[in-house]
Parts: sequence; structure tokens; C-alpha cells
Amino acid sequence: QDDLLKKIIGHSKEYGFVYPSSDIYDGLSATYDYAPYGVELKNNLRAYWWAAMVKLNENIVGLDSAIFMHPTTWKASGHVDAFNDPLIDNKDSKKRYRADVLIEEHAEKYEVKIRKDIDKAVKRFGDDFDEIQFRATNPNVLRNQEKIDDINDRYKAAMDKDDLTAVKELIEDLGIADPETGSKNWTDVRQFNLMFKTELGSVAGESSIIYLRPETAQGIFVNFLNVQKSSRMKIPFGIAQTGKAFRNEIIARQFIFRMREFEQMEMQFFVKPGTELEWYEKWKEARIKWHKALGLGDENYRFHDHVKLAHYANAACDIEFDFPMGFKELEGIHSRTDFDLKAHEKHSGKKLQYFDPEDKESYVPYVVETSIGLDRLFLATLTAAYVEEELEDGSNRLVLKIPHALAPVKATVLPLIKRDGLPEKAHEIMDMLKFDFNCQYDEKDSIGKRYRRQDAIGTPYCITVDHETLEDNMVTIRERDTMTQERVAISDLTRIIGEKVSM
Ligand code: GAP
Repeated sequence: QDDLLKKIIGHSKEYGFVYPSSDIYDGLSATYDYAPYGVELKNNLRAYWWAAMVKLNENIVGLDSAIFMHPTTWKASGHVDAFNDPLIDNKDSKKRYRADVLIEEHAEKYEVKIRKDIDKAVKRFGDDFDEIQFRATNPNVLRNQEKIDDINDRYKAAMDKDDLTAVKELIEDLGIADPETGSKNWTDVRQFNLMFKTELGSVAGESSIIYLRPETAQGIFVNFLNVQKSSRMKIPFGIAQTGKAFRNEIIARQFIFRMREFEQMEMQFFVKPGTELEWYEKWKEARIKWHKALGLGDENYRFHDHVKLAHYANAACDIEFDFPMGFKELEGIHSRTDFDLKAHEKHSGKKLQYFDPEDKESYVPYVVETSIGLDRLFLATLTAAYVEEELEDGSNRLVLKIPHALAPVKATVLPLIKRDGLPEKAHEIMDMLKFDFNCQYDEKDSIGKRYRRQDAIGTPYCITVDHETLEDNMVTIRERDTMTQERVAISDLTRIIGEKVSM
């Protein structure tokens, strides 16, 4: 499966979806640039989310708050004190690691053993194989599962008590070695804050330190009353926002899955206290429905309910997607209580209460949050779309089966040859279509090669102009996934393409 990630990374660069940032300087770790097709896909994904939130819900409005916020914001939100990762250094290699990741990767080795046993059993028993039953009864699997549970329990117990010495002891007891050098000579574990710091204006010193926001949500919380009043919103209502967030991730890898600069799409839904769990369930359902409607395959999603809750939440789950690295978090849904608004009231000295005209009472609302990483959604889209196909004639093709509505280019117009007035006719068609759809014109190479190139960037329709077109105003339209070709009138193109690609 790691192979698939490598292929996606290579394909993204070669065909113009994502480049490593500062490529000519050999890149900057965990930062990426969106290339011409990538930016179109990313815009489409964002627009699809925005429409589902703001356009389709009368009680959700948008916001675009600043990346820089008053430093007290992050004191109130808890990020200054608690937004930390546990770090450990190897004394010999001088390499730095996240202690939790070292432990998690160690535990994963036992999961790999379990999977091997399962694969063997599948081969033996075929269709009769019952994985749940096997996991519950096979002695090898049970032994390995016990090891995983034991590691997780010890880590959680240590972190619950903020006992970093116990985390180091766990690493030593498990015999975890530096993955690169094999050395087991570790320093103590210490906490490292993930926020990026910078200075406001020209005066250096503690008082001018500000942070790059680590989540967009706080811009929504501090604007809660501004939005409620200026937009005359009645509870329950939501505020949606998309924008960059920054985290100084220690281990940033797996391509655009974990970056230091990334984009979030968040929605905070403000509700009456006591109704939050009902709304939490509603948003869980609405969000999974939205994901499935995207067309990346229902089987690629699952919920992961959080058993251990953050101090501000009374219910939380992730929507996980089956990335090339396995099922991982794509979106978080949290019932955040009144934690944030209350904390901002306390630190700002300003009331953040809502007067309920029906109940004739004032209260600090509760919040249900949905938060998705746009870059992760992008990676999910490429993961599901990337297909290597063997065709009937024995040849292969690589095709990005991106859902039509999300495809960067909707249609490409191709003159069969570069003369006899065909390019002119093709441009005429481009001019007719380009106001409705993102279109491309391509006259380079053979028609077969041009089809393959469009397959590789996921263009749903290729429109070919030939000599007959000049006579009958008909063109050949080829659909990406089925590769079927149809002769249609130029005057029907807008309708035919529009039917399939509109959101
Ligand atoms: N306001 C809630 C919040 O920020 P989170 O689970 O820390 O919650 C929400 O982040 C989403 O942001 C995640 O589900 C993930 O999709 C995305 N995300 C978080 N860290 C990321 C990173 N370093 N790179 C890319 N996406 C990230």
C-alpha cells in the first residue's frame, strides 16, 4: 500500500497536482504547493463543502477571520498550555522523535503479525473465513492483541498523569530503538508546543509574540456574538469557515496527510445547552452522508468514536478514510460544550451570551463542531481515483476516476489534426463551453496519447473535432471511465456535459 502513496506522489508532481514546496532548493519538509490541476481540484472540494454548509443550510453563515489573533485567544483556548506533543531525542544519532509515534509504531508491529495470521487463514478457509471469530479465538492473535492493548494502556495511563518519566520507561521496557540507527540511548521525554510563534510589528520581546493559528475554530468563537447580531441569527445556527492553519508537527510525513501548513474547513454549530448530544448525532449523520455523496466509495469510510475525551468535549468521533496508509482520521466531529465561549468570556471580560427570545433567558450556547482537513480530503480523492487498468487489447492505462463534479478539467477539445481548419473549429467549441466549464484545448501528439493524458488528469470528457465536423457540426465525445465514444451535435454539448458535471 505504501507503493500506492509513492505512485500518487510521483503522479501528482508529473501531472501537475502537487509539488514539493521550494522544489529547486530540494523542498521544505512537510510543505507542499498545489499545482495547476491541484488548485482546481482543491477549489472544487472547498466549493462542494461550502455549498453543503452555507448554501444549503439557511441557518449557517460564512466567515473569513484573520490568521493572526490576539495572543490571549490561545491562552483562553488552552493551546498555550496544552497543545503539546511528547518528544524524545536519541543521544547517539541526535535525531528527534515523537514519543507517542515511536510507541504506536512499535504496537503496529503486533498488528502486522495479526494481519499475517489472518491472511494465512483466509487462504486456508476461503469464503468460510470469519475474521471476527478468528480474532476472538486464535491464540496467536489473542497474544498479540494483548500486547497491543497493554502498550496502549500504559501509554494512556502515563499521559493521563502527565508522567513523562513513565513514557520514557515504557520506551525502554519495549526496547524501542532509533528507527534509523538502532540506538537505544534516549534522553528524557519533554513536551513541545506545536504553535508557530512570530513577532508583531518591530518590537521584540514577550509582549509582542503572536501565533499562527493552529485551528480556524477560534476565529469563529471570538466572533460568535458579532455574527449572531449582524446576521440576526437565532439558535440553533452555525458559522462556517475555511482557511489555513499551522502546526509545528514534529513528524510530518505521508505527503499531504500531515503538513505544517494546511487548510481546514470548520463549522461550529451553536445550540441550546442540553440539546448538544442530539445535534452531535445529527451532524454525525449529515457528515457521513456528505462524504458518501462525494462518490469516493462508501466502503472507504468508518467512524471511530473517542473513548477518552478531551477536557472540553462530552462526545467526539472521527470519520476515518482508507488512505494508502490504512484507515486514518479525515474529519473530526466534537461536542465541545460551552468550554471555548466560557473561556473567552473569562479572559476577555466580555459576555458571550445569547438571549433566547422564546425562552426569555440568556445563556452561553453549547457548540457542536465539524472539522475536516482539505488537504486530507484531497488525498482521499486521489487515493480513491487512482486506477491502473488493463484494457481488452492488453495495453494499460492510468486513469484518475475523480468524481465528474470535482474533476479539475471537465472537457478537453481536441482537433484530430493540426490543419484543414480543425483547430479553428475546436477553438470555436472551446469559446462556447469555457464560460460554463473549465475546459482545455490540446492539439499536441497523436489522438491516443492525448486521450491518455486526459485520463491521467481525470478529465471526464474528450471532444474530438474531425473533418466531418466541418460538414455536419457533430463531434465525437469520449467518456473517461467507460471510454465509450458517441457522435453528438455541437449544440448539445453544454447540456450533455452539464448533466454529469454539475454539483
Ligand atoms: N478545531 C478542531 C480541530 O482542529 P483537529 O482534529 O486537530 O481538530 C481537524 O483537526 C482536522 O484537520 C483533522 O481531522 C485533519 O483532517 C486536519 N488536520 C489536522 N492536522 C493536520 C495536519 N498537520 N496536516 C493536514 N491536516 C491536518
